[in-house]
Amino acid sequence: MKSIIEPFRIKMVEPIRLTTEPQREAVLRRADFNLFRVPADDVMIDLLTDSGTSAMSSEQWAGMLRGDESYAGARSWHRFESVMRELTGMPHILPTHQGRASERILFELVGGPGKVVPNNTHFDTTRANVEHSGAEAVDLVIDEGLRPRERHPFKGNLDPAKLERLIAGVGASRIPLVMVTITNNSGGGQPVSLANLREVKAICTRHGIPLFLDACRFAENAFFIQRREPGQGERSIRQIVREMFELADGATISAKKDGLANIGGVLLLRDDALARRADDLCILTEGFVTYGGLAGRDLEAMAQGFTEVLEDDYLRYRIRSVEYLGERLLEGGVPIVEPPGGHAIYIDAGALLPQIPSEQFPGQALVCALYRHAGIRACEIGSVMFGAHAKMELVRLAIPRRVYTQSHIDYVIEAVLEVAERRSRLRGLRIVEAPPSLRHFSARFVELT
Ligand code: F0G
Repeated sequence: MKSIIEPFRIKMVEPIRLTTEPQREAVLRRADFNLFRVPADDVMIDLLTDSGTSAMSSEQWAGMLRGDESYAGARSWHRFESVMRELTGMPHILPTHQGRASERILFELVGGPGKVVPNNTHFDTTRANVEHSGAEAVDLVIDEGLRPRERHPFKGNLDPAKLERLIAGVGASRIPLVMVTITNNSGGGQPVSLANLREVKAICTRHGIPLFLDACRFAENAFFIQRREPGQGERSIRQIVREMFELADGATISAKKDGLANIGGVLLLRDDALARRADDLCILTEGFVTYGGLAGRDLEAMAQGFTEVLEDDYLRYRIRSVEYLGERLLEGGVPIVEPPGGHAIYIDAGALLPQIPSEQFPGQALVCALYRHAGIRACEIGSVMFGAHAKMELVRLAIPRRVYTQSHIDYVIEAVLEVAERRSRLRGLRIVEAPPSLRHFSARFVELT
């Protein structure tokens, strides 16, 4: 059989409220053309993010009931710790309430003015946490990773030559760590190869710089390695995951992605002294080191999620369903970041809407059009999110894990193709109010006439 079916049955349903175009027009205006301001009940297919939006399994829900809510040393903590230790081999495992809390602790410890932090591409919260500490965040993805239509099996790779140049330029002492984001979310959900991780690690070792992973989507990255990297096809996902973490000196993880949980994060550290300082910061703002701002039941959901996400049938379905969406859009002539990434399809709004310049936010124009036309909520990843740092004008269709069926995805395909047909009618926007940092969450726009 060729068909790859959803490897689960649906046991509980949540109704979707179907809306009309005039209703959505009114919602869009009330939200000042910012989809983060739209109530979720007014959204039909929510592709804003794959973060915290997973459907949990019956085993995860069973774990929620078993959750041990003891303040210190809860049974749920021990289960979570043993799952993470087996998965990663890391000696120090600190739970946090989500990925950015891990980032905040890490960069408060190693960042600061004068420091420079390289990454293949910083995610927005990672960049914001690096900069909040006073350090500078530098993106060093390979050039292929910046060219939407160029195919490369590991477009998320960090460019070793650019890293060497940066180290030579600023000096190793100013670089507290090198971070590699797997998969590279802001660069299109593109994977990083084991060969690249080994090469970056070798450079780091030569200069005495620790290597950290932003490992939110480590399982999806491992699946791409298994499928695409020479010599990796016979290895299990678990073995590949283990090697990725063994190359690293630490990692930040948001459990809201490949943890298949609705909340949670992890900070993994190898260095004992750094871990002790991280423990202190965790206690200061997250909670005691055996719960890190989470309930015991959340730790159970994470422990089970980090186990289920490694299943071959799950990963095959997961990556195929995203690829299917990408293939249909390409067949319909819609420019996307190629090849399709692991958790999302990124439409190249800059190429689709050449009449709208970056200062008028082509990505935001497309996001508004998709909502208006079909009640689909997508996310701009371009000049609204990154301002002058934006290298591409993308719109992300992020696919929540185990939530939507193939007919939902077919509806999305139809909607995107219909909006693309009327592309010449789309208009740009202007920001009328925005905060200085992370402005995409709250900026208000008006449409240009
Ligand atoms: N790193 C990456 C690569 C991410 O994609 C995210 C979150 C984070 C760190 C922060 O994790 O949300 O748990 O604090 N990405 C979400 C997204 C929000 O929509 O891509 P968090």
